[in-house]
Amino acid sequence: MPHSVTPAIEHDSLKIAVLGAAGGIGQSLSLLLKAQLQYQLKESNRTVTHIHLALYDVNQEAINGVTADLSHIDTPISVSSHSPAGGIQNCLNNASIVVIPAGVPRKPGMTRDDLFNVNAGIISQLGDSIAECCDLSKVFVLVISNPVNSLVPVMVSNILKNHPQSRNSGIERRIMGVTKLDIVRASTFLREINIESGLTPRVNSMPDVPVIGGHSGETIIPLFSQSNFLSRLNADQLKYLIHRVQYGGDEVVKAKNGKGSATLSMAHAGYKCVVQFVSLLLGNIDQIHGTYYVSLKDANNAPVAPGADQLLPLVDDSAYFAVPLTITTKGVSYVDYDVVSRMNDMERNEMLPICTSQLKKNIDKGLEFVASRT
Ligand code: NAD
Ligand code: LMR
Repeated sequence: MPHSVTPAIEHDSLKIAVLGAAGGIGQSLSLLLKAQLQYQLKESNRTVTHIHLALYDVNQEAINGVTADLSHIDTPISVSSHSPAGGIQNCLNNASIVVIPAGVPRKPGMTRDDLFNVNAGIISQLGDSIAECCDLSKVFVLVISNPVNSLVPVMVSNILKNHPQSRNSGIERRIMGVTKLDIVRASTFLREINIESGLTPRVNSMPDVPVIGGHSGETIIPLFSQSNFLSRLNADQLKYLIHRVQYGGDEVVKAKNGKGSATLSMAHAGYKCVVQFVSLLLGNIDQIHGTYYVSLKDANNAPVAPGADQLLPLVDDSAYFAVPLTITTKGVSYVDYDVVSRMNDMERNEMLPICTSQLKKNIDKGLEFVASRT
């Protein structure tokens, strides 16, 4: 069956592995990558001439079906199907970007934290495989699975603790928690309320709203005060918007009524992230400017990059935080603490302390899980 054969990965190929590719997010994200990444190749004037998508899921039947289906799409991006039967190694060998939407989603009445026990086990096992198969001095790992606040610490600390080859690899600078959906929602909801309430005329551009902190409830801090969209929101509108961004995930979980959480909007947000890393690795851009939930400290407990030393005291020494970053092929190269310095009084004095105290508990939970793992 042609779709289950792994094509030879040439040295001029960029390989992207999607782990959990048969799921709601995985399928839609893989579709976007298969359909759209060819345009990045066209821009590229470097030596990479080919992109390969390696799709892995524990559900063998489902992933074979998804891959066969995608393989008929008329783009020059190749695809291969992987499951435990053939081994995750074939999927991960030579991968430059690993995207992880593997794990269970929420049902109504659950918090993201309720997913921890199952998904922390999955993430740590996938982390072991990444450490065994990938070049830790080069690979980028994008963690979508929830709870992001705890699972990124699991991914980072598990690799650093249990895989000696990670030492001095700088992998902690290239493991990114994906919080882009919060940014996508903040932009969408801000534009919507402005137009509905006649604050701005209908425009085709979308606002940029920095969103920092973590990815659940009050750890999500949308900074509407720093949006580039001119608007005069009153206090009630601002309160409504902040709440809507913080609990946007619940809206979808409720609407799906037991059939999962956001998949299509997440695939869109995830695609926006992956395409940045593809552009970087193809040499179309020299650096990424993007917001990700990352470790602010490196493997030696020193600030992960310039700017992290300034950010740490502002965020009460939270070891992980989502913040605008500059990212090069080596990983996080600058942490934009300025966005935190410029918070208004309400954001700094009311929202930030709640965020950091919750984040610390989420981070500790992840670190304790790894410490207790034998
Ligand atoms: P889903 O159940 O539709 O898909 C998950 C897939 O993961 C399934 O196909 C399953 O077979 C697979 N899987 C399970 N264990 C695996 C393993 N060990 N290795 C490989 N694959 C495995 O769920 P979904 O809706 O796609 O959501 C996936 C995760 O993403 C959930 O944890 C969800 O909470 C999270 N999520 C995060 C964000 C975010 O903003 N970061 C947004 C939406 C959803
Ligand atoms: C979201 O924000 O939509 C995701 O984190 C999924 C969820 O559980 O809400």
